[in-house]
Amino acid sequence: MPNTPAKIGIVTVSDRAYQGEYEDRGGPAIREYLQQVMASPWEAVAKVIPDEREVLNQTLIGLSDDVGCCLIITTGGTGPAKRDLTPDVTTQVCDKILPGFGELMRKVSLEKVPTAILSRQTAGLRGNSLIINLPGQPKAIAECLDAVFPAIPYCIDLVE
Ligand code: MTE
Repeated sequence: MPNTPAKIGIVTVSDRAYQGEYEDRGGPAIREYLQQVMASPWEAVAKVIPDEREVLNQTLIGLSDDVGCCLIITTGGTGPAKRDLTPDVTTQVCDKILPGFGELMRKVSLEKVPTAILSRQTAGLRGNSLIINLPGQPKAIAECLDAVFPAIPYCIDLVE
């Protein structure tokens, strides 16, 4: 439908944000970033969920298949801890992995923090949805998206 705003999923994956132990700052940072860079109308579908495999699986599938998000950005759960499962579930739900996103985001992040090596962040396509993982640190949002954003609208156009 022409003039329908694009739907963008913003998923904070964090046990502590989900339980209200701390405020979700990653999700709002993604929303603010998109407000600055999006050239066409869009609307956010934001969720805060725990680091639970099945919850993340159903959230990504729902945002892609039912809500019809062209882009889904996750924050958190990309590290080596036992409950960090975001890249694993992303890989599981995607039809195609786009490893260049994770490679570039880690490269630019390593120029800022040596611990960027710990992030397993990746990206991929499920149907018409591009799913991109970001680390949980709010400051990582702009650091990572600055690097890959130019490829995002192009990628979405290619798969529509
Ligand atoms: N990348 C950027 N740009 N900035 C950061 O502060 N933090 C790192 C890394 N990548 C960081 C970053 C750290 S400390 C960790 S443990 C991993 O991301 C994984 O974080 P996550 O489990 O919160 O996703």
